[in-house]
Amino acid sequence: MSTTSFPEDFVWGVSTSAFQIEGATSADGRGPSIWDVFSADRAEACDHYHRYPEDVRLMKDLGTAAYRFSVSWPRVFPGGSGKANEAGLDFYDRLLDELLAAGITPYATLYHWDLPQALEDLGGWTSRDVAHRFADYAAAVHGRIGDRVDTWFTLNEPWVAAFLGYGAGIHAPGRKSAAEAFRSAHHMMLAHGLATRALRAAGAARVGTVLNISPVLTPAQVSDFGRPLSEEDAEAVARIDTLANRQFLEPLLRGSYPAELLPIIERHGGLDHVRDGDLDIIAQPLDLLGVNYYSPSVVQAQPSEPADPAYPGSEGVLFCTVPTAVTAMGWPIVPNCLSLVLRRLSAEYPELDLMVTENGADFVDVVTGDGIHDVERISFIEEHLRALHSAVADGARVRGYLVWTLLDSFEWAEGYQRKFGLVHVDFATQKRRLKDSARWYGDVIRRNGLTETPPRRPTLETVAARAGVSRATVSRVVNGEASVSPEVRTAVMRAVKELGYVPNAAARSLVTRRTNAIALVLSVPRQGDALTAAVVQYVTSMLEGAGKQITLMLADTAESHRRIVQQAEARLVDGVVLLPSDRGDTLAERLSRTDVPIVLLGKPAVASLVPYVDVDNAGGAAAATEHLLARGRRRIGMICGPTDLVSVQDRLAGHRAALQRASKQPLLALADLTRASGAAAARQLLGDEPALDAVFAATDQLAIGALQAARELGRRVPEDLAIVGFDDIDAASATTPGLTTVRVPLAEQALAVARLLLSRLEGRHTTSVVLPTRLVVREST
Ligand code: FCB
Repeated sequence: MSTTSFPEDFVWGVSTSAFQIEGATSADGRGPSIWDVFSADRAEACDHYHRYPEDVRLMKDLGTAAYRFSVSWPRVFPGGSGKANEAGLDFYDRLLDELLAAGITPYATLYHWDLPQALEDLGGWTSRDVAHRFADYAAAVHGRIGDRVDTWFTLNEPWVAAFLGYGAGIHAPGRKSAAEAFRSAHHMMLAHGLATRALRAAGAARVGTVLNISPVLTPAQVSDFGRPLSEEDAEAVARIDTLANRQFLEPLLRGSYPAELLPIIERHGGLDHVRDGDLDIIAQPLDLLGVNYYSPSVVQAQPSEPADPAYPGSEGVLFCTVPTAVTAMGWPIVPNCLSLVLRRLSAEYPELDLMVTENGADFVDVVTGDGIHDVERISFIEEHLRALHSAVADGARVRGYLVWTLLDSFEWAEGYQRKFGLVHVDFATQKRRLKDSARWYGDVIRRNGLTETPPRRPTLETVAARAGVSRATVSRVVNGEASVSPEVRTAVMRAVKELGYVPNAAARSLVTRRTNAIALVLSVPRQGDALTAAVVQYVTSMLEGAGKQITLMLADTAESHRRIVQQAEARLVDGVVLLPSDRGDTLAERLSRTDVPIVLLGKPAVASLVPYVDVDNAGGAAAATEHLLARGRRRIGMICGPTDLVSVQDRLAGHRAALQRASKQPLLALADLTRASGAAAARQLLGDEPALDAVFAATDQLAIGALQAARELGRRVPEDLAIVGFDDIDAASATTPGLTTVRVPLAEQALAVARLLLSRLEGRHTTSVVLPTRLVVREST
């Protein structure tokens, strides 16, 4: 069998971090960290503090050559500074001895986000002093274990620590200030420089740091990296690249901040914290850059978009959801982006050694009678390794690859529900079990590469034929059902082993009576057909990406309703996504009485307990109305669509509420959904109210009708009459003047529906989801 081989000295391994696995948060004098204070989750984690011998043995069995772990600062300095806690350092002594005895090379990270709370109380990373404390801590750790550690990483992903911790407030310490985030990021860089000096002075062999580098792409570039961009999109992409990547790369490797970044920092609290000489300290020579890669950032220009709190300075940039395959975390799977990152770094910094210090994925693992067959994780890692290999073949200086992560562990803001491990951990018993991905990764390490063409996978049929039993019997055996005689079980398991069979979803389905089929039921007529079609397309591709087969059904007659309910009753489908009819019928209720999970795309007209995904129509209408008020409009009319439509009811309610808050009276004209009726309603409003200076229309079609009427009547838009629509259909940006409107998130709706359904299929309790809308301001207001 030919293989895709990696360079001979290529380093294979796994990564973890202290707070995510150690537990024992008060053992041997450890002090609290910001994560102990911030997170309400159980602190025991994987109890690695006590079970490290077993974990090292697991790594040894896999054949890992390298282990990247992090040292817990509050174990070493429980109060943040002063005298080092020798009992805390003892743990790393023991761990290192165990690793070296197992022939595993340790890579130590000094800061993987667990700042001593005592230092946070003094200002945390916003305080410059913390950078100096970090250098003291680095020296103390080196003093104890420097004889056994050659490679040191100062920080892990300072962008996350600074901008999610101090900017967006979703990580510890949970602060929400753009100014503090920039300040913290600079102090982390400074801490890196000071610690690097201290480590080198103490004789450290190699010092590096770890950044999360995400390529920034537009949605169209996800499948076509080279796609040329409009000037606006190119600017949006460049800005996010500066904020996320260059903000860290350039001070470290060039000794300066990108020129485009300085005015952004200036606008958010100023640059006082950057002192003369800092950049020289930061730009210490770097022996190795650790690159953590999970997924790309996908953005496009969108003038009305407010800044994302994780990216202060990102006004006018929309972060997009793309209809690609995603992990359970919802992160798009784009393996070639790993190659893109590595090639870029090697081109920009040709002297720099790189190592992929984290890459991996969270998927929903199913524990079956005979193991955890995490085929998605295997193919995720395999595809990323192929991408990495192609970069190496083209000369990228990548020295190794570390999987995130060894054990299922504490996933920060997401808690314990996320599973990134090669090894499954049962948190009730702390029992470790290898997943198939662990064994597979062990094989990759042993052969130092991937097999050229994945061997043809044996099927249920092949196993059944070899064992001389039916497919259903094989399925029962691999799913651990008791109803099979021991002889048959032995025969089947022998065949499974000989053929190297990995049970797949279809095999499981025979037992669980799953069909893998999902019905997508469309009630007609629906308003806004183009929008519906787009959402349907996204939902289909997402569910197909999750391995489901989609059957589209039309619910347009009583007979079709009966047929659909019958199919569900007979369990010919696993689940149903229903686009309920605008005007209400009983199909949702009838389907909800079957055993088949159902979710609705759109709030139903008839109140029901079935969970739905909808957009915030009322909020969008209120924002549109408030925008008109803010532009100084005094008399605002609304062109209202048919009021038996749920979305129109909600838009009307939002509009009324906003007017009421401003102590203004509503003025309505009714219409159907056509442009012509929008024009007629506008004429009526202008006739009834000569002082009318603004119109909010319930849909873009109606708004476009109003634009026409205004033109015919010689009213200038926006000078005499401002007009706002709703939906942001394609035509809305092509009118003259361009139409201000409310954008509904199409791909997000589809993603939410797909997620909701998949959760329901797993038997999880779910509730309805209402997604925010966004005002898109153009020239009509
Ligand atoms: C990275 C972190 C790591 C883990 C993975 C999933 O950002 O460095 O600790 O949470 O994401």
